[in-house]
Amino acid sequence: MIVFDEKQKVFFLNGKNYTYAMAVNECGFLQHSYYGAKIERCDGEYLRFIGSFKEPRVGNLNMDEDFHRMPSECGFYAHGDFREPTVIIENEDGALTSRFRYVGYEYKKGCDKIEGMPCVRKADETLTIILKDDFSNAEISLIYSVSDDSDVLVRSLNVRNLGNEKIRLKKAFSFCVDLDGGEYSALRLSGRWAQERMEEVAPLAHGITKIQSLRGISSHHTNPFLGILKGDCGESFGECFGVQLCYSGSFAVTAEYEKVSSLRIQGGINDTAFSWTLNGGEKFVTPQAFLAYSNEGLGSLSRSYADFLREKVIRPDLAYKKRPIVINNWEATYFDFTSEKLFSIIDGAKGLGIDTFVLDDGWFGKRNSDETSLGDWFVNEEKLKGGIKEISRYCQKNGLKFGIWIEPEMISEDSELYRTHPDYAIQKEGVEPCRIRNQLVLDLTRKEVVDYIYSVIAKLIIENEISYVKWDMNRCLTELYSKDLGSEKQGEFSHRYMLGVYSLMERLTETFKEVFFEACSAGGARYDAGILYYFSQIWTSDDTDAYERTKIQWGTSYCYPVSSMSCHVSASPNHQTGRAISLKTRGAIASLGAFGYELDVTKLTKEERESVKEQIKEYERIADLVLSGDLYRLSSPFNKDHFAQMIVSKDKSTAYLVVERFLGAKEFDFVRNLKLDGLAEEKIYKIEELNVTASGSALKNVGVVLPKLLDFESVAWHIAEVK
Ligand code: GLA
Repeated sequence: MIVFDEKQKVFFLNGKNYTYAMAVNECGFLQHSYYGAKIERCDGEYLRFIGSFKEPRVGNLNMDEDFHRMPSECGFYAHGDFREPTVIIENEDGALTSRFRYVGYEYKKGCDKIEGMPCVRKADETLTIILKDDFSNAEISLIYSVSDDSDVLVRSLNVRNLGNEKIRLKKAFSFCVDLDGGEYSALRLSGRWAQERMEEVAPLAHGITKIQSLRGISSHHTNPFLGILKGDCGESFGECFGVQLCYSGSFAVTAEYEKVSSLRIQGGINDTAFSWTLNGGEKFVTPQAFLAYSNEGLGSLSRSYADFLREKVIRPDLAYKKRPIVINNWEATYFDFTSEKLFSIIDGAKGLGIDTFVLDDGWFGKRNSDETSLGDWFVNEEKLKGGIKEISRYCQKNGLKFGIWIEPEMISEDSELYRTHPDYAIQKEGVEPCRIRNQLVLDLTRKEVVDYIYSVIAKLIIENEISYVKWDMNRCLTELYSKDLGSEKQGEFSHRYMLGVYSLMERLTETFKEVFFEACSAGGARYDAGILYYFSQIWTSDDTDAYERTKIQWGTSYCYPVSSMSCHVSASPNHQTGRAISLKTRGAIASLGAFGYELDVTKLTKEERESVKEQIKEYERIADLVLSGDLYRLSSPFNKDHFAQMIVSKDKSTAYLVVERFLGAKEFDFVRNLKLDGLAEEKIYKIEELNVTASGSALKNVGVVLPKLLDFESVAWHIAEVK
């Protein structure tokens, strides 16, 4: 609920369990007052009293450091606030100084859709606070959307040029919040290809801690999420904040820690080499940031994010819809297949309970390796006699749906498309292009290119009865240049590229509502809320090893729902790590997400086929929990000798526990009493596999005794309330 205390000039934003407050101070500046557990609306006067110690002195605004102490909602540049600014405005004469003063506010029920960008779909109320730059014609709108049922606060910022002369933005982050001083640590999700979103926690030291991507995609290396832990904070206790960007391109989030002031957290579009020109009357809209608060630890923060994304960001018709169980041929064949081979895989998949066959890379142009044909989205008839239609029909005959892999944003130099339209590729004359995975990227800042790709993909979907699309993106952006933008707007390139991608995603998903789209970016290089707005599921990682996946899925779960993680059972030994892990454990770990297979089913033994059938049946039992339940992280693969996660239904009547044991020097290293969290303490539960009953409080406080597990062995237990 949003409340404005007119007398004290304090804004209260109240979500489910938090209050966020701001005040207009004596000198007319908007000052951040409080972010934390709920307080009362009558506390305006008290907040003003507390805040007065940090206010600039009335009538003496030029005192050194006056603004530096003030907790702000939007940092400005070169006028007494020496922390990183949130927005930098360059005037026609080159002057950069700014200072933002409160002008007024607007209130509305609900929230507005941001045209052309992913954003929150619903919110109860929205507050827009308007600031005006004292030294230019820029007007800043700070936008806050809140919902009574959520602990996530949605923020963004618009800049409008109210004058006639041009201004140029050199930085335009989405939000800024100055938290109180104290001891903080940062939780980041860092990694690389096949090892995405590894948890990393480190104390925040004096100065700037920055996570960023300059790759044109949110990246394998750093996820656009930052957790801020205050003092002693763990999985189920302590105060923490989260920042998550609803953006899939180059981003930055900074945490600036200073003893004299506080902790400034801000972020948005990466400002390195960014610029955006605003002519008179024009407006720049930043992507949204999703801020979250919890005083019950990181587990609760994660559950707030999962609920928020499912309820308010992911397409409502898909958020809780049963996901197709797929068999994907990539690791079964790589580029080496024929129609006959695919038919045999489809034959093999029949009767197992799988519902969709997804044909991966290699079906188009002359694509027999990664050196050619991206952009030529027509079938390679030499490989696939009768075209993909034949494969699609064969699937249907055998009771399966048909899906296909595409990489719409790419172009190979060895392709018909490149020979006809070399100008479609991102390139700068005289600059040797980086050829990552032997490919170039299409210049999606150009509408003509977006329109062309749209028409080709639309035709492909219509002509081949495709019901599932795996949309890949296998390289980052380099040589950021488009001749269409002219010399003044090259700093807009990266963001304009993202706007092109979003418009393509929006058009395809809106036109083909019944087609299920899965995102992929060489595994999980573009795993973010921006993508989840269009596609409800993302290929989590190219690493499907059931040990590595415990870490990848654990890290991903800090800010994304398990239902968004595409998790497949692949062959053993694993193709990425060479590690051999039982089919049972591979199935158990994959069942903690959107389930499927990524192996050659024709090579399964009779017994393995029976196990796969059983696995799918078991998965069907818990599919609803994966879609709508609450995740509890019980034992971390990062610092324990076993991994344990449990998903509990919202009404706490059912739960699903998965444990995997890792390398331990001795059998007895394994802590066998696992305390469960998330059940209702007063309810009585039965653990099906143990045939034993206990109260929720016993399962929480005494725990369950795990069987003796050898390396990489696992259990997957079903827990249900006894009524
Ligand atoms: C990427 C994806 C894989 C597969 C290959 C095909 O690496 O992450 O799943 O689709 O491309 O080239």
